[in-house]
Amino acid sequence: MNRLTAAALLLAPALLFVGCSKGSNSSTTTTTTTQATTTPASSTGSMVTLGVATFNANCATCHGSKGQGQPGAFPPLDGNPVVTGDIKPLIKIVKTGLTGPVKINGVAYNGQMPAWSGTLSDAKLSAVITYIRGAWSNHAGAVTAAAVAAVK
Ligand code: HEC
Repeated sequence: MNRLTAAALLLAPALLFVGCSKGSNSSTTTTTTTQATTTPASSTGSMVTLGVATFNANCATCHGSKGQGQPGAFPPLDGNPVVTGDIKPLIKIVKTGLTGPVKINGVAYNGQMPAWSGTLSDAKLSAVITYIRGAWSNHAGAVTAAAVAAVK
């Protein structure tokens, strides 16, 4: 009896300490774990919702709500082979931005696309890239957060 109580008294502060140190460290860990676990599970419904929301909040002002763009100013994302093509250059453009002359479907653009890697998480980036690849007349496959993280 006495021994047990003593053991419990000895253990209690130790457990509290472990609990506390875990608590103070976990705020950063929690966010990363959440993103990592949401991506595989969310390739269906919630990823689409996140993709649409991210697109409307960050991309639609320039590229249009239907990805139609503005000829000469903002390139279309709908029917754009860069969007439906190889994922690495596409991820790179969205993460790091794009400046300088480009020609899309015969129309020249020479504008400035901001970099999004500092603003949007890999989970949001993968959701919005997946969205633009599959929305409107586009029918290209999904992009995972891991693929986004792999492109620097
Ligand atoms: C401030 C306006 C603006 C916003 C907001 C914007 N873009 Fe852009 N985007 C541009 C411009 C301008 C270009 C072309 C840059 C150039 O001429 O070099 C471009 C280019 C692109 C390209 C490459 C197209 C190609 O054919 O090379 C992709 C993909 C793209 N944007 C996706 C996005 C996504 C996804 C978002 C939202 C996360 C977004 N953009 C937000 C202005 C914008």
